[in-house]
Amino acid sequence: MSLSTLSLRRFLYVSELAPAMPSTVVGQILRQSRERNHRLKLSGALLFDGERFCQLLEGDPDTTQALMRRIERDPRHCRVQLLLDTPRPAPRMMTQWQCGYGDHDAFDAAAAGDPEQAAHAFLKLLPACDLSS
Ligand SMILES: Cc1cc2nc3c(=O)[nH]c(=O)nc-3n(C[C@H](O)[C@H](O)[C@H](O)COP(=O)(O)O)c2cc1C
Repeated sequence: MSLSTLSLRRFLYVSELAPAMPSTVVGQILRQSRERNHRLKLSGALLFDGERFCQLLEGDPDTTQALMRRIERDPRHCRVQLLLDTPRPAPRMMTQWQCGYGDHDAFDAAAAGDPEQAAHAFLKLLPACDLSS
């Protein structure tokens, strides 16, 4: 079965690096996420601008929801604001999982407008971000 035809759950959120947390924890998060997301067949993107995170996460409904709950409790960030939670099956927006540096426009665009538009705005800005998988 191809990744794009699986039943999906999709989340988009913004959050902030926890106070007194060095920005070097991002390297740790990326190492964990690359390995695990690949194994769990999760796709999406994580952007960081030195202070804020913005992440789109999609995959098998139960797996994605369980990870989102763990991410929300992760002490390395705070003020997690869920912008989109799409529980119904839909085509994947991304075919792989990527992470990278995003500038402020990406975060502002994702936080503005209605939830569905937020996800599309986030995706449209990805080509301008410095991404790796
Ligand atoms: C901003 C942010 C994004 C994260 N994204 C992911 C991710 O995409 N995949 C992942 O496995 N863990 C991610 N994590 C780490 C999880 O919160 C958690 O530490 C990890 O899944 C290990 O959980 P466990 O210690 O309960 O096994 C992220 C953490 C933060 C702070």
